Amino acid sequence: MNEAPRAAVGDRRDFSERVAIVTGGGSRAAGIGNGRAAAILFARRGARVLVVDVERPAAADTVAMIEGEGGEAFAQAADVSRPADCEAVVQAAIERWGRLDVLVNNVGISGPPGTAIDVDLEAWEHAMRVNVGSVMLMSRYAIPEMTRNGGGAIVNLSSIAGLAGGHPSLLYPTSKAAIVGMTRAMAAHHGPQGIRVNCVAPGMVYTPMVASRGMTPEQREARRMGSLLQTEGSGWDIGEAVVYLASDAARWITGVVLPVDAGASAGMARMPVPASDGKRR
Ligand SMILES: NC(=O)c1ccc[n+]([C@@H]2O[C@H](COP(=O)([O-])OP(=O)(O)OC[C@H]3O[C@@H](n4cnc5c(N)ncnc54)[C@H](O)[C@@H]3O)[C@@H](O)[C@H]2O)c1
Repeated sequence: MNEAPRAAVGDRRDFSERVAIVTGGGSRAAGIGNGRAAAILFARRGARVLVVDVERPAAADTVAMIEGEGGEAFAQAADVSRPADCEAVVQAAIERWGRLDVLVNNVGISGPPGTAIDVDLEAWEHAMRVNVGSVMLMSRYAIPEMTRNGGGAIVNLSSIAGLAGGHPSLLYPTSKAAIVGMTRAMAAHHGPQGIRVNCVAPGMVYTPMVASRGMTPEQREARRMGSLLQTEGSGWDIGEAVVYLASDAARWITGVVLPVDAGASAGMARMPVPASDGKRR
């Protein structure tokens, strides 16, 4: 994975002969979520993809889409908050394809609403296990297998909610900020083994997860306008960034957090633009 650069003619975004695991690679509802998009894009570039989801039919739908395009994938049901399930996921990839090169820790849930004063404690523990614990657990079993091939790449899914304040609940931004910290710490721990660990922080992309919560056309339009590019993002935008960070094109990149948010986190969209007369409007 992190060997010397391929020949000049080589395609550094080629995943032929490589094996990728994408957790949460199904989608909560019909359509293209971030995990599903990443799984499909890996397969288009030649990877064999283990699509992991707690809902087997959701993973199977992604696999059917990949196979429909002539790609290779397998659906694995697992709850990534459980150590035994994570171990079984990695074993399934090894038994089927004999190696592991890429791990995408995409699973993430909104978790309970509420502030420190009123958040439900059991729901807090559960959501932290799903959003944060799963990244550690999957990596725990994946890294030794990647090391056998001389290295690999891990891409974690954070959120711009983990980079800035203002989120109405405490759980979600806390768990997504933890993923940023884990990404940097793991990049340091495992860099010498040739394992790159990076993180994508999606902005307010319009995915089935978001659509299923219900959103008025006005709310959707406000989300679109809340970025510098003022265009709506989709799961494909996130998937492309994930695949890039996992590819040899990013062989010298580790420990970074890449916001994919049409510039929303740059914050400039909310600043008044000076008029030509120098006055702020
Ligand atoms: N959609 C957005 O606007 C947005 C914004 C910022 C960050 N994100 C992050 O992107 C990631 C996922 O996005 P998505 O569009 O793929 O979401 P999604 O809800 O469409 O897919 C997530 C999948 O994870 C599965 N899942 C949930 N808990 C699981 C568990 N314990 N074990 C295994 N699978 C489980 C679900 O069944 C679902 O199919 C999350 O980490 C989320 O926090 C999304």
